[in-house]
Amino acid sequence: MLVLHNARVEFGGHTVLRDVSFELPQGRTTVMIGRNGAGKTTTLRTIMGLLPLSAGRITIDGQDLAEVPDHGRAALGIGYAPEDRRMIPGFTVEENLLLPTLALKLDQSTTRERLGSVYELMPELRELSRRPGGSLSGGQGKMVALGRALMVATRVILLDEPFQGLAPALALNYARTLAKVRDQRKDLTLLVTESSPQLLGGVTDRALQIERGEVMETTLAEARH
Ligand SMILES: Nc1ncnc2c1ncn2[C@@H]1O[C@H](COP(=O)(O)OP(=O)(O)OP(=O)(O)O)[C@@H](O)[C@H]1O
Ligand SMILES: [Mg+2]
Repeated sequence: MLVLHNARVEFGGHTVLRDVSFELPQGRTTVMIGRNGAGKTTTLRTIMGLLPLSAGRITIDGQDLAEVPDHGRAALGIGYAPEDRRMIPGFTVEENLLLPTLALKLDQSTTRERLGSVYELMPELRELSRRPGGSLSGGQGKMVALGRALMVATRVILLDEPFQGLAPALALNYARTLAKVRDQRKDLTLLVTESSPQLLGGVTDRALQIERGEVMETTLAEARH
């Protein structure tokens, strides 16, 4: 279980996360809903160690993440698909998928196994595997970003506004893929951010609302748009 205990983040004296506490129970999918600027990306980047806490703690299964540098968080099995996809345009899709495994120094058989399992979950990525990253559409890029996060995620996966900008058919496909992930990786903990609860119907029933850096438990039905 991943837990934030009174996590506070400040930018230049301005508090952006206000003593945020919540739990992500193992194997559950939690959505975090909040308007532009509410602090969704900041929350995910803080979990990844890309932004420093000015107070509070983050733990995973009781281990304080303060002991783990940012590059070590992926090694703990925390996968992250940022809002901006950051694909390497000159690398093929497959090379983009393999990038995080190089950083993790995974052996070849584990790497092949993970790649196979990602292709099984997302057969469209196998079809795109030889294409240069730079030639993909925005929606295809989001799928690669999900695949790349899945290459790393043995415990937790953090998805920042994955549905943003997806055409309805692609959003449906993405939601179906997430449902498959939940079905086939029952131990994996998911946190998905979104600005509108409408896009998340069927993804989960557990929701957090974030407003001006404050987080509270809610339900999808009650979440404000
Ligand atoms: N590097 C930064 N320096 C200063 N302020 C920042 C920085 N990054 C984010 N902020 C501020 O922190 C607040 C939260 O931003 P954040 O990006 O987490 O929001 P968000 O919920 O992800 O919004 P969006 O839906 O637009 O992606 C905003 O007020 C933003 O202006
Ligand atoms: Mg954001």
